[in-house]
Amino acid sequence: MASPTLISDTEPWKELKAHMEEIKKTHLRNLMSDSARCQSMMVEFDGMLLDYSRQNVTLETVNKLYKLAEAAHLKEKINRMYNGEHINSTENRSVLHVALRAPRDAVINSDGKNVVPEVWKVLDKIQEFSERIRSGSWIGATGKALTDVVAVGIGGSFLGPLFVHTALQTDPEAVECARGRQLRFLANVDPIDVARNITGLNPETTLVVVVSKTFTTAETMLNARTLREWISSALGPSAVAKHMVAVSTNLALVEKFGIDPNNAFAFWDWVGGRYSVCSAVGVLPLSLQYGFSVVEKFLKGASSIDQHFYTAPFEKNIPVLLGLLSVWNVSFFGYPARAILPYSQALEKFAPHIQQVSMESNGKGVSIDGVPLPFEAGEIDFGEPGTNGQHSFYQLIHQGRVIPCDFIGIVKSQQPVYLKGEVVSNHDELMSNFFAQPDALAYGKTPEQLQKENVSPHLIPHKTFSGNRPSLSLLLPSLNANNIGQLLAIYEHRIAVEGFIWGINSFDQWGVELGKSLATQVRKQLHGSRTKGEPIEGFNFSTKTLLTRYLKASSD
Ligand code: F6P
Repeated sequence: MASPTLISDTEPWKELKAHMEEIKKTHLRNLMSDSARCQSMMVEFDGMLLDYSRQNVTLETVNKLYKLAEAAHLKEKINRMYNGEHINSTENRSVLHVALRAPRDAVINSDGKNVVPEVWKVLDKIQEFSERIRSGSWIGATGKALTDVVAVGIGGSFLGPLFVHTALQTDPEAVECARGRQLRFLANVDPIDVARNITGLNPETTLVVVVSKTFTTAETMLNARTLREWISSALGPSAVAKHMVAVSTNLALVEKFGIDPNNAFAFWDWVGGRYSVCSAVGVLPLSLQYGFSVVEKFLKGASSIDQHFYTAPFEKNIPVLLGLLSVWNVSFFGYPARAILPYSQALEKFAPHIQQVSMESNGKGVSIDGVPLPFEAGEIDFGEPGTNGQHSFYQLIHQGRVIPCDFIGIVKSQQPVYLKGEVVSNHDELMSNFFAQPDALAYGKTPEQLQKENVSPHLIPHKTFSGNRPSLSLLLPSLNANNIGQLLAIYEHRIAVEGFIWGINSFDQWGVELGKSLATQVRKQLHGSRTKGEPIEGFNFSTKTLLTRYLKASSD
């Protein structure tokens, strides 16, 4: 018998559907009272601890999820990824971001060729270049050292590097290495973003790094031309050679733009944009800011998780467990969202990065074979650091919709504050909330408890918490470059696991194309109307009305 195309046609899926009806009858309060169960839901790796005991699962559920993984051929799919097979079938590409952080002596093939030496050739070039810039041996057109960097890029060419940069900003070693330097990111084509980025910068001391996999992205290219103009109008056109470099897979377009190909840092089509932070996309700007040795630790952290993901049995495999639990929450419980709640201000850009990795990867409506999915795949990712989020959207999470939460905590603060006379340190205060919130969500508060507290009867419905809201906790020993790399790789692989189970292609992104092509039509119309007074044609009533108003009001 031919194997079913859709995972939802398999027996393990159907069994999980039926099992979910049983699980629904058990409150997390009861599940949490079984210490043996909780103990089995703690997984350790390299000093970090994952606790998934506050998920609506029993040991039976987890075993059924392993069966689902088997039915989805999860292990084979992971192997195919690591073996460089073209698992991104709609673009006919391998998916090898793991090769970007592999040790120098590793062998990872794509199309019959070991790609690791090429990866290290670029890493060595970045190390050499960043040392020249940082030491002042590469100087700008007027003889000044280039102390400031603006990285121009959007989407995957921006969000990952911004997340890592923001996280490293509190690591004492990284802070020391970054002394006297600035790194800024220009992503939005909104001229306000240009203004914000160049305010206070001197072109004489600025290096612009244009980051674009395709080197065709409209926003990035316009921003790159804007900064090229900023440099050449201040320092003359020849200054571009000293003040602009590029990161891209499209070296021909880099050269056409006017950047010396020797000052371009390559990557490859087997690196998806949203998985590119460990390529020159992230490594170059971050090495310029912090030095290559700090960034190398970040790469090593990611690589340690790549090994763990590849080799650990499923019951000890953090990305696999997280991926399976997400599928359980989304596809069986029907919870559409996931909140990412790091109790660490340094991780404030983590949720925005994971939003792209997850939603661009798994926001799909058809299977990898093009069959419409009879179930919802993907989830809505959002989040804020705690405790800020508690004072924003947690009300809804506690008493409104059920949103599975990821709580991420750090054992040791890198910037501790101990005030005399305070009950606890500032970090203990933060972490008190990290430990309290998952229990508030899981246990809730019953009307009976409220009655015992003599709460007025009319307030009891308002003060009742239903509880039974799933979360998981990930406790990291600290937040240095290594752990940041680990956290990134855990989420990258978790998202791949979800896609592998759902049977979708997590590595293409056709859904971003339609809007881009319609914008091309509008751009042409705006140009024609402004320069030749062409009438607005080819749009529906609504768009025509809006465009007419925009053109009229903006030319008044
Ligand atoms: O529009 C989406 C997207 O294609 C992302 O996948 C990508 O990360 C981003 O645009 C930027 O693309 P590029 O690096 O080619 O400029």
